[in-house]
Amino acid sequence: NEGSLWGGRFASGPADVMAALSKSTHFDWKLAPYDIAGSRAHARVLHRAGLLTESELEGMLSALDALAEDVRSGAFTPAESDEDVHGALERGLLERAGQELGGKLRAGRSRNDQIATMVRMYLRDQVAVISSGVLDVVEALVSQARRHPTAPMPGRTHLQHAQPVLLAHHLLAHAWPLLRDVDRLADLDRRLARSPYGSGALAGSSLGLDPAQVAAELGFDGPTENSIDGTASRDLVAEFTWVTAMIGVDLSRISEEVIFWATKEFGFVTLDDAYSTGSSIMPQKKNPDIAELARGKAGRLIGDLTGLLATLKALPLAYNRDLQEDKEPAFDAVDTLELLLPAVSGMIATLEFHPERLAELAPQGFSLATDVAEWLVRQGVPFRVAHEVAGECVRACEQHAPVKELHELTDEELAAIHSALTPEVRHVLSVEGSLASRDAVGGTAPVRVAEQLEAPAAESARR
Ligand code: ARG
Repeated sequence: NEGSLWGGRFASGPADVMAALSKSTHFDWKLAPYDIAGSRAHARVLHRAGLLTESELEGMLSALDALAEDVRSGAFTPAESDEDVHGALERGLLERAGQELGGKLRAGRSRNDQIATMVRMYLRDQVAVISSGVLDVVEALVSQARRHPTAPMPGRTHLQHAQPVLLAHHLLAHAWPLLRDVDRLADLDRRLARSPYGSGALAGSSLGLDPAQVAAELGFDGPTENSIDGTASRDLVAEFTWVTAMIGVDLSRISEEVIFWATKEFGFVTLDDAYSTGSSIMPQKKNPDIAELARGKAGRLIGDLTGLLATLKALPLAYNRDLQEDKEPAFDAVDTLELLLPAVSGMIATLEFHPERLAELAPQGFSLATDVAEWLVRQGVPFRVAHEVAGECVRACEQHAPVKELHELTDEELAAIHSALTPEVRHVLSVEGSLASRDAVGGTAPVRVAEQLEAPAAESARR
């Protein structure tokens, strides 16, 4: 078993099917730069512990530099015989530093603490990339809200007309969860900032190596507190895929709305040509494929999370090879979001809203009935009664053919429903009045929405 990391006690090399199943270089090779960074830090602690001379350290570091350069340029890649990123890189190091010196680097470390550290380093970098992509979506929502600071739209519950709201308020309602996702990523990064390096296979190292020094050199806040936990836990990888799944779900909720807003029936938005697709048979078609793919990829991101959780369930301590299955879901979640986020922010930023259509629909479906009830409350009518009375107004409207709107009821019709219903009630039967009246913190009144527009903008400016 020439060239492998573990041949000594074996009389034969692995069967082809064993090697094929075991192999991970086709996905873990992307961790090579992190593994080399770990090796540099490890060489320094070996030197500090007296296990490498000054000149051996220099030789090791320059061989590692040469290897890093060849990995970057593509001159060095995994061979068919390499089992994983660690084995491939050790082969590369031996080729550059010689068997004697190169063979000294592996002392006091295991692929178990190496891989656990590499994955954390990778995830920390991706936290930054994904956060920035999510903030671009937030910025697209905020810029659309700024473009339409006072445009009303029909607010819905149960997908039925409920009460008028500002379009900007609705758009910002999609921005806040995304800002919380960014916050979640920052919070996760605090937990990721512990280095398992030095945990060895599971029990730690006997060679007097300093895990704190490796941790500091690799940009961590410190080492993990328990070597078994450091090598065997993957809850942080699962947490990462939870947050990426949540981002996928948040994008899917925006996307679903864009899809029906762009229908003939709604007519709220027109998609930009550059962010939509055509049909191979129907010449007139303009399809919201980005939004549909976002909706679809949310399922895939949820799958990455649930697959990993299923792998971790009931797994005994410490390291088990099952844990190698943590990487592909995490990598897939990253690749998926890094494709999806710029497409979604581009789609949102270029949506053309139709404020006249939104304004026309805002008061329809008796969406001002709550305003009638609340006006009656201000005249001293108990809300239970006011609710009934406003409901009777709706019923009166529906008895006409064609159906009347609330403000079209005559003075006599109003008075017949309840003596408190004087013609003055018509003052609240306007979308503008209804919007302006909802002016407590968090409400849809233009003054409140203007404040919100400052808040997320300020948050995204923090980057
Ligand atoms: N490829 C392995 C993984 O991703 C690295 C650790 C392998 N350790 C072992 N003892 N076989 O988890």
